[in-house]
Amino acid sequence: MSTKSPLSTADDVQFFEVGSSHGESLAELLKENNVPAVTRTFNPFPMSAETALKIAHLPRRDRYYGASLEGKMIGLSMLRGWDEGYSVPSFGIIVDHRFHNLGVGSRMLDFTIEQARVLGCSRVRLTVYSSNSPAVRLYKTRGFVECARENVVLMSKPDERVEMILELN
Ligand SMILES: CC(C)(COP(=O)(O)OP(=O)(O)OC[C@H]1O[C@@H](n2cnc3c(N)ncnc32)[C@H](O)[C@@H]1OP(=O)(O)O)[C@@H](O)C(=O)NCCC(=O)NCCS
Repeated sequence: MSTKSPLSTADDVQFFEVGSSHGESLAELLKENNVPAVTRTFNPFPMSAETALKIAHLPRRDRYYGASLEGKMIGLSMLRGWDEGYSVPSFGIIVDHRFHNLGVGSRMLDFTIEQARVLGCSRVRLTVYSSNSPAVRLYKTRGFVECARENVVLMSKPDERVEMILELN
């Protein structure tokens, strides 16, 4: 893969809804990102091939979106919760740790919020650890507002889980 400036990397990324043809590329993304830089702050499911195959192949109402660069999946975002019976979807995102801080996460967040609008969602929620300052800052720039906060322990250290809401109306 060629070396690119942050701007051109993010501009070249393509976004798509994850479906049954993406099982293998998603499995690769999850396995290659089963590393502390990602799993410390993102832990809703195991970063495994089994998770990828479930997401790609099982029927579901939750939505998953991929980001690809030069044919490789480098990001996954999601609107989850509908399958568990919640009415407001929870946003989640990972960007391949080798592509952090290049603008991919910002674009993927914008794409996913747009998908939520298209789906008719009136709001999107998320939870984020307060120590995850790049993510917290990113969410604030897109209009997410804190609505709750609780003390938690993360990797044996005190942290806070912050719940944020974005109103889409
Ligand atoms: C959070 C995450 C998705 C951001 O993706 P990204 O592609 O790195 O984000 P961007 O490059 O678009 O940067 C977004 C902002 O964070 C800042 N940022 C990104 N990585 C950073 C880092 N390591 N240190 C400091 N700032 C950072 C960027 O400068 C940018 O801020 P700006 O708009 O003020 O310039 C990515 O770090 C990630 O996958 N983290 C692990 C999983 C995770 O925590 N997911 C969120 C769970 S709620």
